[in-house]
Amino acid sequence: MKILFVADVFGAPGRAAVEQRLPALKEELGIGFCIVNAENVADGAGVTPRLADRRLAAGADVLTLGNHVWRRREIAPYLESSDRIVRPANLATGAPGRGLTVVEAKDGAPVAVANLQGILFMATPVSPFEVLDPLVEEARAGARIVVVDFHAEATSEKVAVARLLDGRVTAVIGTHTHVQTSDARVQPGGTAAITDAGMTGPHDSVIGVEAELAIRRLRTGMPVRFHPAEGGVRIEGVIVDCDGGGLATACEPVRVNVP
Ligand SMILES: [Fe+2]
Repeated sequence: MKILFVADVFGAPGRAAVEQRLPALKEELGIGFCIVNAENVADGAGVTPRLADRRLAAGADVLTLGNHVWRRREIAPYLESSDRIVRPANLATGAPGRGLTVVEAKDGAPVAVANLQGILFMATPVSPFEVLDPLVEEARAGARIVVVDFHAEATSEKVAVARLLDGRVTAVIGTHTHVQTSDARVQPGGTAAITDAGMTGPHDSVIGVEAELAIRRLRTGMPVRFHPAEGGVRIEGVIVDCDGGGLATACEPVRVNVP
């Protein structure tokens, strides 16, 4: 089965790219299951119920999130009620929502999708290394195909998690930095991995934000209201091919210009 992971969809330009291009792209690539990281869809930070619904209508089977999960707090009840969206599993105890879901692919096979957040250089309540083992065990109890979105800043932590889970899950896909890395691979144990899948949004920017605004904040150290940029829109992500047992046979990066 071919799984398409669409990297962090950023603001209105990223949303439009997904709505215009994703349905046909899935057909062209013969995709059986599609995961979309939606943590930046609402103006670059967070997601609302309406925006989540629209990503699902455009062809996502499951949405994943990250450190901006609570930027739009109206998403909380949606996280409780929908099994099509996951937030990082290692948030505070008592946080609404789930970090793992199992959804059927086009061919009826169950696919488990888990979301975790890194602890290096991020304000993360619980170390991912404290929850990884039980989370993967639970995922594997529900599905042979298991995809982990590891939303993290540090390349070292992302490579370590990919290696730790090698042979135990289908893919470990890094998100959050918005810059696609050139290390899409299948590891020795059969787990696909990429350190960062990139960004679906305006690349003529500083990781999605209008460059002038991001530079002004860095140069002055003062608060500057960020706004998504507009130019150079691409869908980025990764395609993972896997067998019925849930091990990966190929892992290729995706970069599609959206004029
Ligand atoms: Fe993030």
